[in-house]
Amino acid sequence: MSDQPDAGAAGTFDIGGETTVNRLGFGAMRLCGEDVIGPPDDEGAARTVARRALELGVDFVDTADSYGPGVSERLLREAEVPGEAVVATKAGLLRDDAGEWKPHGDPDYVRNQVLVSKDRLGVDTVDLYQFHRPDPDTPFADSVAAFAELKDAGHVRHVGLSNVSVEQLDEAREQVDVATVQNSYSVANREHEDVLSACEDAGIGFIPYFPLEAGDLGDAANPLGEVADVHDATEQQVALAWLLERWDVTLPIPGTSSVDHLEENVGAAELDLSDDELATLEDAA
Ligand SMILES: NC(=O)c1ccc[n+]([C@@H]2O[C@H](COP(=O)([O-])OP(=O)(O)OC[C@H]3O[C@@H](n4cnc5c(N)ncnc54)[C@H](OP(=O)(O)O)[C@@H]3O)[C@@H](O)[C@H]2O)c1
Repeated sequence: MSDQPDAGAAGTFDIGGETTVNRLGFGAMRLCGEDVIGPPDDEGAARTVARRALELGVDFVDTADSYGPGVSERLLREAEVPGEAVVATKAGLLRDDAGEWKPHGDPDYVRNQVLVSKDRLGVDTVDLYQFHRPDPDTPFADSVAAFAELKDAGHVRHVGLSNVSVEQLDEAREQVDVATVQNSYSVANREHEDVLSACEDAGIGFIPYFPLEAGDLGDAANPLGEVADVHDATEQQVALAWLLERWDVTLPIPGTSSVDHLEENVGAAELDLSDDELATLEDAA
């Protein structure tokens, strides 16, 4: 691997067929304080992580209005990330100071939140606006219609979904071009592989969140460690490389509050796994 990792080594993906990004992105949820509520102890350090991501070629950054809430979007703007990178944000979850995540897909709320996010990010158009999670108290089609309306009105360039089933993806695609789906997925957790396969078939970007299982790769750590030793890499790097090589439409967004972990994670873009290694990891979940 070269001295300075380069996210560009991961190759590119065209979001919505037109917005080209390097496939290895950055998840900005971890820039917030504990439990993703409030600011971090050191806001300067958080901004430094975000800036360092751009220096390493990351040009796709994921956030949400509910991270902080508001804190992650604000820190990204202060770090001058919007404009230099494609920023994907989300609406559809409320927070409280106990750290709860409460689905809220009311169309009026979504219409309100896009204005809030545009102001906080300092953009005229949100690059990618994702419905964070279907709300059991709001018909899914009504929430999706609000996102479609925001796209038609030019508030957002692309619409994405998160935490959806294949059936919900199909239903949403009847109303709007879905550019991306963001569900949990990693070498250690294949629960949503049916959704990922549906995205691959349709050329829709799939953003696997918890690509590092939030730091605990569980039973997959053993085979990952064996492959990592061969490449003089880390388990986390191999977990990210597997996501990039196993699929064509994945856009992993590892999250970190640390420059060292960021550099390590971006370094995964340059790992080249053999067919045998990919086969070994296929059974790692
Ligand atoms: N759509 C949704 O519902 C949803 C839900 C959750 C997350 N997300 C998005 O997905 C992104 C990724 O998820 P995530 O951040 O929760 O999980 P993750 O990327 O799987 O793991 C992040 C955690 O692992 C640690 N870590 C990162 N790199 C590491 C490394 N190289 N070695 C060891 N530990 C490392 C981080 O701690 P340090 O800070 O110490 O590095 C952090 O605690 C989020 O930032 C967010 O943008 C979306």
